[in-house]
Amino acid sequence: MSQLVRTRITSREEPAPGFCLIEFYAPSLARAAQPGQFVHIRCGEGSDPLLRRPISIHAVNRRDGLVRILFQVVGRGTALLARSGEGMIDVMGPLGRGFSRGQACRNCNNSSGNAPAGTGNTGDIIVVGGGIGVAPLHFLLQEIAGSGESGRTTVLLGARSAGQLLIREAVEKMGFVVHVATDDGTAGHHGPVTGLLANALRRHPGFVYACGPAPMLKTVCALLAEAGVPGEVSVEERMACGVGACLSCACRVRDAGGRETYRRACVDGPVFPAGEVVW
Ligand SMILES: Cc1cc2nc3c(=O)[nH]c(=O)nc-3n(C[C@H](O)[C@H](O)[C@H](O)COP(=O)(O)OP(=O)(O)OC[C@H]3O[C@@H](n4cnc5c(N)ncnc54)[C@H](O)[C@@H]3O)c2cc1C
Ligand code: FES
Repeated sequence: MSQLVRTRITSREEPAPGFCLIEFYAPSLARAAQPGQFVHIRCGEGSDPLLRRPISIHAVNRRDGLVRILFQVVGRGTALLARSGEGMIDVMGPLGRGFSRGQACRNCNNSSGNAPAGTGNTGDIIVVGGGIGVAPLHFLLQEIAGSGESGRTTVLLGARSAGQLLIREAVEKMGFVVHVATDDGTAGHHGPVTGLLANALRRHPGFVYACGPAPMLKTVCALLAEAGVPGEVSVEERMACGVGACLSCACRVRDAGGRETYRRACVDGPVFPAGEVVW
């Protein structure tokens, strides 16, 4: 159940130049949130900017009622959010459909029929993130680690350069094997993270979770289709209302009968089965 809360910011950090990590107190939101869901945030005090901005839930601490978001400053909304000195934040959430861990499998009718983590599937899991797309994957990995599945999970992280591998350390501390790729070759594989995925798919994993920029996700979906491996991708459509009313976030998908149609990324997604998205 989503809610609207105005609450206090408990910490604010700059993990790398141009990125901001904010933690706020919201116990019921922390309890309800699932990996892959997002919050819709009011960035300014007045009516400018008018629209809220969607930001993924990066981490939750349910015991202490804390929620974290990690975002890149790209425009007016995120710039205001990064420097709002007031110590309060206005959030609506949790919103959207997240990753299908432990829930009814939305992918079971595609590909090999393997189920995602948490549903008794024994195949290995690959989690692949590029750029700021790693933000929601951190929360997913928290949950995977919590259910004792880190040993059968491989994490692939991509960034422009070594300094922007934002969650690498935290994920390694959770006990995951992490492989990295950078566009400039300053850490790990020199090139896109999808190069690492192509190799990892040769080991026939059971399920893949991905989030990142659209060109990366397009390649991920093509690789999964070719390898016959099921997975889910979290798309980042532009959003206005965030609650299914305005249709501004329409995402082109293929329905069960193979016909092209549209779904609203804010309520039907942002996570979709990899085989459904039409790129
Ligand atoms: C479900 C969802 C979850 C998201 N989670 C995160 C997150 O965890 N961390 C994070 O940094 N960002 C996330 N984003 C993207 C974030 O919402 C945008 O960066 C933000 O709205 C930009 O607002 P702005 O006012 O700063 O920039 P604007 O002035 O609105 O735009 C600045 C630039 O960013 C581009 N942009 C704006 N929105 C998006 C978008 N949705 N997708 C791609 N490009 C965009 C614009 O085209 C423009 O070039 C998410 C988006 C969605 C839909
Ligand atoms: S943002 Fe309005 S319908 Fe999705």
